Amino acid sequence: MSPEERIAELSKQLHDHNYRYYVLAQPVISDRQFDELLKELEHLEEKYPQFADPNSPTKKVGGDITKDFRTVEHSERMLSLSNTYNRSELEEFDQRVQKLLETSNYEYVAELKIDGFAIALIYENGELVQAITRGDGSKGDDVTANVRTIRSIPHKLKGDFPATLEVRGEIFMHKAAFDRLNEEREAQGEATYANPRNTAAGTIKLQDSSEVAKRPLDCLLYQLVRHDDDRLNHFEGLQRMKTYGLPVSEATELCENFNELWTYIEAWDKKRKDLSFEIDGVVLKINSRAQQQELGFTSKFPRWAIAYKFETERAVTTLKSISYQVGRTGAVTPVANLEPVLLLGTTVKRASLHNADIIRELDVRVGDTVFVEKGGEIIPKIVDVDTDNPKRSSEPTRFASHCPECNTELVRSEGEAAFYCPNTNHCPPQIKGRIEHFISRKAMDIDSLGEGKIDILWSNDLISNPADLYRLEYDQILGLSKTIESDDGSESRVVSFKEKTVENILKGIEASKSQPFERVLYALGIRYVGETVAKKLAQHFKNMQGIMDADFDTLINVNEIGSKIAESLIEYFKVEAHREQIYQLEAAGLQMEVEEQELAGNQLEGLKIVVSGVFEQFERPALKKLIESYGGQNVSSISKNTDLLIAGANMGPAKKEKAEKLGVRIVSESEFLEMVS
Ligand code: IVH
Repeated sequence: MSPEERIAELSKQLHDHNYRYYVLAQPVISDRQFDELLKELEHLEEKYPQFADPNSPTKKVGGDITKDFRTVEHSERMLSLSNTYNRSELEEFDQRVQKLLETSNYEYVAELKIDGFAIALIYENGELVQAITRGDGSKGDDVTANVRTIRSIPHKLKGDFPATLEVRGEIFMHKAAFDRLNEEREAQGEATYANPRNTAAGTIKLQDSSEVAKRPLDCLLYQLVRHDDDRLNHFEGLQRMKTYGLPVSEATELCENFNELWTYIEAWDKKRKDLSFEIDGVVLKINSRAQQQELGFTSKFPRWAIAYKFETERAVTTLKSISYQVGRTGAVTPVANLEPVLLLGTTVKRASLHNADIIRELDVRVGDTVFVEKGGEIIPKIVDVDTDNPKRSSEPTRFASHCPECNTELVRSEGEAAFYCPNTNHCPPQIKGRIEHFISRKAMDIDSLGEGKIDILWSNDLISNPADLYRLEYDQILGLSKTIESDDGSESRVVSFKEKTVENILKGIEASKSQPFERVLYALGIRYVGETVAKKLAQHFKNMQGIMDADFDTLINVNEIGSKIAESLIEYFKVEAHREQIYQLEAAGLQMEVEEQELAGNQLEGLKIVVSGVFEQFERPALKKLIESYGGQNVSSISKNTDLLIAGANMGPAKKEKAEKLGVRIVSESEFLEMVS
């Protein structure tokens, strides 16, 4: 390939990666790989300037602007940082600073490099008036409405603030919030997100700020841009920002010399796994403003700051095969089966491959040597492939064309990353998945029916939809059994239906009939109808028929119901089999309307109550209803805010101990009944 061709190829690739990173928030290569490509291009452009394009990716900070938000100009260019990856590169940076300043008399401020995305916040007379994304560095998107939903960002400043203030920092998602969000999405049969950073970036670009508010984002600010007191050095600026009530990291430290910098870096490389959010390195900045000005900027980066990126732990292994999993919505996810390898203390046998695009981008083939990393996500992922290995297969991976479970040809709708199996009603994992969702804890909560048991009932042709559960009879299921293998095939256990098991199953199914309507609605597993949406719909329409009859306009007029949800509901109820199933569930005795409760009394008013164990006179849902009818509030776990624990038989000792330790009042079933009588 000629240098001219290579320059064109690299430019095209980098533009594409920029778009994936900044606009789609779905990068397919690591930052380091990106930097390597960029360095190669910079090098070639320097050597052959005649082939360089004025719009080359090397001239850009990165990013494009989404059409849907208003584009606004930044007061000062919003720059990125150059990266270093080892001690000697950092020493070179320090030497350069020393040379340019012609002194060794300077201080650094060391900060965490938060792995989120940059934001500029503008306050006028103490009020937040604008929040702008980095965009292309000169202009960004006005995402004020969405940023206002972030709790840690004050809408009004405190203290002695200046008339105009601009601060910059990073928006990010905590690891725990990310895991929770993914669990919810998995429960709803939706594709999971790849990592906290992409999710945070994707979230801030959502058009619907109420949707943004549901996903907890956080912010830490690291730069004072416009201010009326120019005498402050960088560190003092950060302290000043704190006095205005702005969120600033407590981990920031002043460093007098290179050794102190290095100590800071090594300490945080060890401690970062204990942080509640992800950092991908540290940022080192010259403290004095005068010295910052003296050092100035290159075309893209400040010369007074640099990022030091941590090495992420990687494992090298072989890709044995790719298998395809079918979820309850029919979405087909590719999974990499790996030669087991140790990574950060656990043995990794599988890695997520997300979707067909990622497979193509990585060009991963069976037999390949692959590099596996763990990010914020629980499931590790393949980040790189050794494409230079001469022994690799010459056949690129072709994504499954047919469902691995039912052999139906897969389809992919316009604009969707996932392939789907359209055989909704006859594809086993879809059928079982829907029933598993129906009985799950947040839905009908039939905990006497675990995953294995659904499988037994299904393979004996006893259930093919949730309504069938309510037709099961004692004699039909007594004695059924099956050997169930664990996901990775390493363990197996026999599940069998003995008398006690059967009794519990039927009791659990019976008890679910008193679950409130909103849970029934959620349990149906309608796309985009999660717990919160189900609650909203139930409150508004009061009954199932009302929702089934509602047209698009009626639906979108309901608070927090957007067009996506409305369309999904209309599609769902269009299907005759779905309507039929609802009528069968109704006939079985499930709640199809909101129970307007008149309070039976106020004996429990304002009390937060936990119920635990098995009760003589009540099934648990009935007991919870009783609590509500006396003004009490059901809560699921014991904390210092709990007022009362109603202890049934077989309550776990740990729960009791916790309640005792926190001084929570514990009553028995009969004592409780006395309280309300
Ligand atoms: S300072 C002109 N400080 O990392 C200086 N950036 O890779 C601008 N980042 O664009 C940035 N933590 O989005 C700075 N403590 C920190 C940071 C930080 C995270 C992000 C920021 C920046 C990118 C550079």
